[in-house]
Amino acid sequence: MLHQPVIHLENCSIKQGDYEVLKEVNLKIGKGEFVYLVGKTGSGKSSFLKTLYGALNLNKGKALICGENLSELNWKNLSKLRRKLGIIFQDFNLLTDRTVAENLQFVLKSTGWEKGSKMDKRIEDVLNSVGLKGKGWKSPHQLSGGEQQRVVIARSLLNDPQLILADEPTGNLDPETADDIVRLIREICEKKRMAVIFATHNYNILETYPGRVVRCQSGRLLDEKNFIV
Ligand SMILES: Nc1ncnc2c1ncn2[C@@H]1O[C@H](COP(=O)(O)OP(=O)(O)OP(=O)(O)O)[C@@H](O)[C@H]1O
Ligand SMILES: [Mg+2]
Repeated sequence: MLHQPVIHLENCSIKQGDYEVLKEVNLKIGKGEFVYLVGKTGSGKSSFLKTLYGALNLNKGKALICGENLSELNWKNLSKLRRKLGIIFQDFNLLTDRTVAENLQFVLKSTGWEKGSKMDKRIEDVLNSVGLKGKGWKSPHQLSGGEQQRVVIARSLLNDPQLILADEPTGNLDPETADDIVRLIREICEKKRMAVIFATHNYNILETYPGRVVRCQSGRLLDEKNFIV
């Protein structure tokens, strides 16, 4: 890897309270790399992603995410880390009492943007990039599930992240819409040289859009070359 990896984990432990979900986790992900995260239900995918964005404490090992050290997180560098990340969940988590544009503006304001005209331009740009040109005035409930997920993707792109963490982003979508969303995320990842971790249960997606795969299994995070079959 020519550049510093976007994710560099050494001997990390992922814990939910006292329960160690994953142990001895080692992983490097480079700039612009797209990586699937698979594993049975309860195997630790969400816990892993939560640790990467600082929602679960890292109590063992070394972890650098976009240059931020997870062992040294405080409120200040947590918000710095979050600005370098885009997070996409299965449930869209859109504010239903606001329009699409207001949802995006809310995030911009809470991450330090001030100038109205700059915000409007950024909102327009991210909506264009996910194929929702001119839909900013709509309410989330006036959009289909696939369109709502596009808004969530647009929201994750607002601060030009180096890394996207997507936890089953297609879980609530029909297969065709799910394909569109994967394609969109992969295209954006390639174009913007953003790294992506994409947690999924859906093996059809892996077949249609092959890529590097890491798997949570038996309390470990395995890179594809080390899978236990
Ligand atoms: N908030 C929590 N408190 C305590 N234990 C938890 C919590 N969330 C998850 N766990 C436990 O941690 C383990 C890993 O769960 P996690 O949600 O990370 O799995 P997952 O791979 O994302 O599963 P799924 O595919 O169902 O989303 C499970 O044993 C689960 O019961
Ligand atoms: Mg999960």
